[in-house]
Amino acid sequence: AKGGFPHFMLKEIFEQPEVLRNTMRGRLLTAEGNAKLAGLDTNIKELRNINRIIITACGTSYYAGMVGEYMIEDLAGVPVEVEYASEFRYRNPIIKPGTLVIAISQSGETADTLAALREAQQKGATALAICNGVGSTIARTSDGGVYLHAGPEIGVASTKAFTSQVTVLAMIALLLGRQRRLSFETGADIVKDLLELPDLVTETLKLSDSIAEIAKTLCKANNFLYLGRHFCYPVAMEGALKLKEISYIHAEGYPAAEMKHGPIALIDENMPVVVIAPKDSLFDKIISNIREIKARGGKVIAVTTEDCHPLDEIADHIITVPKTRPMLMPILACIPLQLLAYHIAVLRGNDVDQPRNLAKSVTVE
Ligand code: M6R
Repeated sequence: AKGGFPHFMLKEIFEQPEVLRNTMRGRLLTAEGNAKLAGLDTNIKELRNINRIIITACGTSYYAGMVGEYMIEDLAGVPVEVEYASEFRYRNPIIKPGTLVIAISQSGETADTLAALREAQQKGATALAICNGVGSTIARTSDGGVYLHAGPEIGVASTKAFTSQVTVLAMIALLLGRQRRLSFETGADIVKDLLELPDLVTETLKLSDSIAEIAKTLCKANNFLYLGRHFCYPVAMEGALKLKEISYIHAEGYPAAEMKHGPIALIDENMPVVVIAPKDSLFDKIISNIREIKARGGKVIAVTTEDCHPLDEIADHIITVPKTRPMLMPILACIPLQLLAYHIAVLRGNDVDQPRNLAKSVTVE
């Protein structure tokens, strides 16, 4: 059942190129520079007129939603908020005409996410779902939506569902963008970049052995910090969650520039800091954040792209992933973090697929 892999989690990490192909199959229109999502066909006119989006989810699905927020605002210019389902459901949220709610859930059975979706519907919103579980309660309750087609995810730590969710959100952002201000040319570029992703993920997976080596130097740490900016800020959050879940090491994700507003006090030579630093318009900013960490003796593990100088001279470990457009970088940048958490957990002798205290789907509050 594990296809020759020692754990479901590793199998699912390595399935990601195929999963992304399945998530995108038949949904990208190269000639039109657009996406076509059959599950949204009945909502397509309404989508043209929405003026606000609330994304609601829990855990890893919430972090995918954070990437979605940035993508949709960037491409479509529609304001987006992301909210934990457990908060949304109990705080009497404001839903006005023109507000669309999108619930994200791998399982489609998470109690809080289902309740948030129902709360949105009761307040008159159209509520869409992004789910993996076909025929799941959330999928059936929603007013439309998009399946991931990621196949069953057995490992409690979500991996392939995250990259697939971000891919679906990219397609939704593309579609909403093309209904509004996004040009054909940019749309066509995004389609091309999306279609190239599976091969780039295959490239990225080749890093597994070298990440296993890095893991050996880090597996005894008691605390980790994960930092990222812009599209890769949610990746920092997701990387920290993966480490917590399966290695039982305390880890926190932060927007890189927030570090000096508090967490910098934690940094010493025992504190590994994983920084997601692709070469993009914010590269210089993140380099100065990294210099601040090094000045305090912290150990820096940088996930970056080619031509990362001067990072190669500052960081303790460099993990180089292929480059894609910034909004799609989370899909590539999260993979080394999945692998790092995995290898550290294995070295610590933990049950990777069924970590203590956790269930695959949280169907009670
Ligand atoms: O099935 P869902 O996407 O609704 O699950 C949400 C969270 O419970 C889930 O992402 C959880 O945080 C994972 N264990 C993360 O790896």
